[in-house]
Amino acid sequence: MERIKSGVPGFDSLVNGGFPRSHSILLCGAPGTGKTIFALQFLYKGVKEFGENGLYVSIEEDPSKLKTYAKEFGWADIEEFEKSKKMIFLRVPPSERKFDIVEQVREIVQRHDIKRIVVDSLSAIYLAFEDITQFVYSFVNLIEALNVTSLFITDSPPGSTLLTKDGVSEFVCDGVIHLQLHDVSKTVNRTISIKKMRGTSIIPGMNMLKFTESGLEVEEYKAFY
Ligand SMILES: Nc1ncnc2c1ncn2[C@@H]1O[C@H](COP(=O)(O)OP(=O)(O)O)[C@@H](O)[C@H]1O
Ligand SMILES: [Mg+2]
Repeated sequence: MERIKSGVPGFDSLVNGGFPRSHSILLCGAPGTGKTIFALQFLYKGVKEFGENGLYVSIEEDPSKLKTYAKEFGWADIEEFEKSKKMIFLRVPPSERKFDIVEQVREIVQRHDIKRIVVDSLSAIYLAFEDITQFVYSFVNLIEALNVTSLFITDSPPGSTLLTKDGVSEFVCDGVIHLQLHDVSKTVNRTISIKKMRGTSIIPGMNMLKFTESGLEVEEYKAFY
């Protein structure tokens, strides 16, 4: 199976070398756990280090804010990547009908040779739908049909053990990554766990997710007392 590198140092060894190409991955976690930055790094490094064009579909945040976050990590050439259409930001209002989004995404994927997609977030899109289960199935399947490696962000309900509010995206997607923020310790505060990754072995359990000057990194979990 072909693998693609996440661009997050320390992460790929948790999934036997990288994401299986063209798989759909759910990135879930409560607000503030680092989902947006992880996804932005996946796309930015995709262009920078692996020559794969990326599309960021943003429902929640203005893309100009995303570029500001990127610059905090020294990823200043993100502007250049946007100008040369290696990295594309598509702003979609939450009220937009799902198939309209898919049409726009399909057109961009074909025209600009997109290999990596981020949808931030699935949970913001389905707010507009009555039948969330049906929406999640059809939306994820339509994006999967484009043959790109996709990261779907979903908010986990804070303070709950549930991964998602919808209860279906974790079954539909090929992989599930869970980010958590633990505000009980100064040293171990952000963790990342792989819950599933179809077609590959995984290292389950929590590892640490750390912010550095140049972005996120995964480190082996060490408990401090
Ligand atoms: N440059 C940075 N340095 C350190 N921490 C940061 C930086 N940027 C963001 N963060 C942390 O990440 C959190 C938000 O990350 P984000 O990816 O937007 O979360 P989510 O999308 O899961 O809500 C912030 O609350 C902050 O704690
Ligand atoms: Mg976010």
